[in-house]
Amino acid sequence: MSDRYTVTTALPYANGPLHLGHVAGVYIPADIYVRYLRANNKDVVFIGGTDEHGVPISIKAKNEGVSPKEIVDRYHNIIKKSLEGLGISLDFFGQTSSSNHYDVATEWFQKLHKDGVFSEEVLQQYYDEENKQFLADRYITGTCPSCKDEGAYGDQCEKCGASLSPTELINPKSALSGNKPVLKETKHWYLPLNNFEPWLKEWIEKKKNLLKANVYGQVRSWLDEGLRPRAITRDLEWGVPVPVKGGDGKVLYVWFDAPIGYVSFTKEFLENDPKRNWEDYWKKDGGSKLIHFLGKDNIVFHSIIFPSMLKSMGDYILPENVPANEFLNLEGDKFSTSKNWAVWLDDYLQDFPDKTDLLRYVLCSILPEQKDADFTWADFVAKNNNELVNNFANFVHRSLVLTNKYWGGIVPAQGELTDFDKEILEELKKYPFKISDSIEKHRYKEALSHLMKLSALGNKYLTETEPWQHIKEDEGRVKTILNISLQVTAALGVLSGPFLPKTSEKLLAMLNLTSLKWTDVSINNIAAGHKINEGVHLFKRMDEKIIQEQREKLEKAKHEAEILNQKMEPQKETTTFDEFQKMDIRVGTIVEAHKIKKAKKLLKLKVDTGIDQRTVVSGIAQFFEPEDIVGKQVSILINLAPRTMLGIESEGMILMAENNQGELQFVSPGSPFENGAIIA
Ligand code: 2FM
Ligand code: ZN
Repeated sequence: MSDRYTVTTALPYANGPLHLGHVAGVYIPADIYVRYLRANNKDVVFIGGTDEHGVPISIKAKNEGVSPKEIVDRYHNIIKKSLEGLGISLDFFGQTSSSNHYDVATEWFQKLHKDGVFSEEVLQQYYDEENKQFLADRYITGTCPSCKDEGAYGDQCEKCGASLSPTELINPKSALSGNKPVLKETKHWYLPLNNFEPWLKEWIEKKKNLLKANVYGQVRSWLDEGLRPRAITRDLEWGVPVPVKGGDGKVLYVWFDAPIGYVSFTKEFLENDPKRNWEDYWKKDGGSKLIHFLGKDNIVFHSIIFPSMLKSMGDYILPENVPANEFLNLEGDKFSTSKNWAVWLDDYLQDFPDKTDLLRYVLCSILPEQKDADFTWADFVAKNNNELVNNFANFVHRSLVLTNKYWGGIVPAQGELTDFDKEILEELKKYPFKISDSIEKHRYKEALSHLMKLSALGNKYLTETEPWQHIKEDEGRVKTILNISLQVTAALGVLSGPFLPKTSEKLLAMLNLTSLKWTDVSINNIAAGHKINEGVHLFKRMDEKIIQEQREKLEKAKHEAEILNQKMEPQKETTTFDEFQKMDIRVGTIVEAHKIKKAKKLLKLKVDTGIDQRTVVSGIAQFFEPEDIVGKQVSILINLAPRTMLGIESEGMILMAENNQGELQFVSPGSPFENGAIIA
């Protein structure tokens, strides 16, 4: 094993919280790996952060009427806090919108540009004349040429899944203005991946035996299809500005700047460290091994694009391994942010603040290492009750309680060993190696199953030797049994560390053991005569009603999202300021309200507009009782041409807000205001 490691976790976009799919695919395996390396005295930097550029972030900011920086700071903090809550032991969690990152990404672009690595191309792209802006693919909507759905995007139709380019859309519209965009010339910089193809093929073949089959397979198929130059700049405002001549109004493509984040964050982390230097973790001279943890949708970027960039930089290391995982599903369906079909990590931590190791355990036991896997609440509760409570916690508890009961917590010495005792000790000896071997091969599910087999071995040993039956007639035999049980318990304390850090800490505290190191775990883990502390249950049984509660919560959230997605009205056509100015909207007070015979939906109101008192017929009868709204201040459009309804002349319109469920509310001043005040 080399001694220095640079370990990274793929940077999630900072436009939403993390769900369990992200956690299982990336953070759990990465954290187990890093904790294992640290336990084996390796020099590691463990780097993560958020990816804060890209079109979806700009769109979200626009929709909310705030700056992109406000959005990314908000979600960066939520994500950071939830990862800390789960015990993910990152050394640094950075932001790609930081000035340090801008500096480093800029340096990279400038160097590669100067070295002639990029190519340039002038092409035709859609442009919004009103907003004076080129439109990224996601900013263009139109009718899908395949399924004719009217809501397709410039890069994809979400209805039928067709992958599109903006010029294929029928009736393209700008998502910014709603207008038809025009084609206009623009220049972009490209990373000519085709030039790297021969080298990449050779490099990947050399790694064939090291890479997971899913990773090798995907990379191979990209290479076999043939690589093409890839645009690394975009006509957008939000991002790292293109720092060379002709780059005005353009930024680096999010996928170009994001992986540079691993480097810029390491630099930021070690900036003021007198003993360590960031270059040792990134430059060839430092001899560090670079390991990227990620989900399968990111494989191409970390095993083709970023390595090509690193190689072009000259003196940088290349990834040693890219242990990518497949996807995790939830109760049989894909995790989906838009459908709100997700267990959000921050939500989980609120519901189960003291069950972080349980979540780590369950996710590790179902990691989608080779194929997609499924998280279910039934499995979550069953794994807690059957595996952690009945196996792990039960064994540990029995060993500690019996030692405290018979010998006041003093570890007894071994006497003569039976064949069974020897067999158990022989087995125990193998476990540190088994677990290490699986972790080093990035087989975390297998590593965890070894840990649980060790605890099952201890459980079986206690159950079969029944020390409580022999304490009266053969205390010497019981001493041997408990000594051996405690050797297993102490091994569990250390070996569980990467998987269940809090449990490991508690267990080692119960054993009063601080000196045992991973590399020393064998058959003499705890000495006779050592004093242990009281034993408490490490895991508690869970009530099965949690399954139903959590499923209902999921269904409710999904239903709410359906309502929101179904009925959100698209933005209306652009209006002009002059048109808007023609409307005379005032604050008014309802002074009378009456039902109208034979009109279920209408109320007849008298409104004091500050100018006069006038009659307005309003379609709000299904939502408000007349007596409840007298005295209410409202917004009223007073220069609407009068209309006669059911023989009553209506001289204005009350403005109402209507939500997706068709519910109405008055648009009223925040506190009492003068009638007749102008709303504009
Ligand atoms: O797919 C994603 O969520 C990207 N934000 C991952 C970026 S990983 C890295 F390159 F920064
Ligand atoms: Zn379609």
